[in-house]
Amino acid sequence: MNHHPSREPEMAAVETPDREKTDVTGIDPALIFRTKGFLEPAEGRRLFQVALEASRLGPCLEIGSYCGKSTLYIGAACKKNHSTLFAVDHHEGSEEQQPGEGYFDPETWDIRQGRMDTLPLFRQTLSDGGLLDTVVPVLAKSAVAARHWATPLSLVFIDGGHTFAAAFTDYSAWAGHILPGGYLLIHDIFKDPAAGGQAPHYIYNLAATSGLFAVLPMTGTLGVLRRRACGEVLESFPDA
Ligand SMILES: C[S@@+](CC[C@H](N)C(=O)[O-])C[C@H]1O[C@@H](n2cnc3c(N)ncnc32)[C@H](O)[C@@H]1O
Repeated sequence: MNHHPSREPEMAAVETPDREKTDVTGIDPALIFRTKGFLEPAEGRRLFQVALEASRLGPCLEIGSYCGKSTLYIGAACKKNHSTLFAVDHHEGSEEQQPGEGYFDPETWDIRQGRMDTLPLFRQTLSDGGLLDTVVPVLAKSAVAARHWATPLSLVFIDGGHTFAAAFTDYSAWAGHILPGGYLLIHDIFKDPAAGGQAPHYIYNLAATSGLFAVLPMTGTLGVLRRRACGEVLESFPDA
């Protein structure tokens, strides 16, 4: 994940050119600002733009919603296309979000249960964002949700557990459901190990070298890949 939860004011505008400095997402900037999360504004806007194109093909799915920041961006795009976002999270937090770890937030701790629970905050974000008829929360571990999954997806966004095992599970469980022409997005890709954990980078490379995906420009630490058409033959081998 990024080093700091994104807290700076969200302008919901693309940077260039001037005539495009309008609200592209339609999301209330104050809602984005107050929603806890780890997505930079530019990454969020890219999520929205890709989801806006993808969700015309079919439903989207994210792994790792936390308090709903990424959900707001993908959900807003799905809502415009009368599509659906499945939001998979057990809402018990990742390893690095637990007490004593670097990304622990006491407001996510449920004293009565004696564990993290981001579901109430997530539910509030959906309500505030007008997304209750767009987003389907899936309260489960990624691997459990995937067990009988059979619906083709136009977009899969991976931002769940950041251990190698968790990231590999998410990639192998969900990437195969992406429709030709659909998108795989992976957050927190750090090429330099000194800058951040390498599990997202590892699965990004798996996808990039599989030959199944075209690699598109990144935004911040957000990797974007497009599923090639069935039968599309590459002119050269992907870089290993
Ligand atoms: C980095 S946070 C997601 C941040 C969010 N996408 C945002 O925009 O703020 C990771 C989330 O993944 C969830 N998670 C971790 N491992 C998971 C697993 N195996 N299955 C489902 N959810 C998981 C955690 O509960 C946590 O809410």
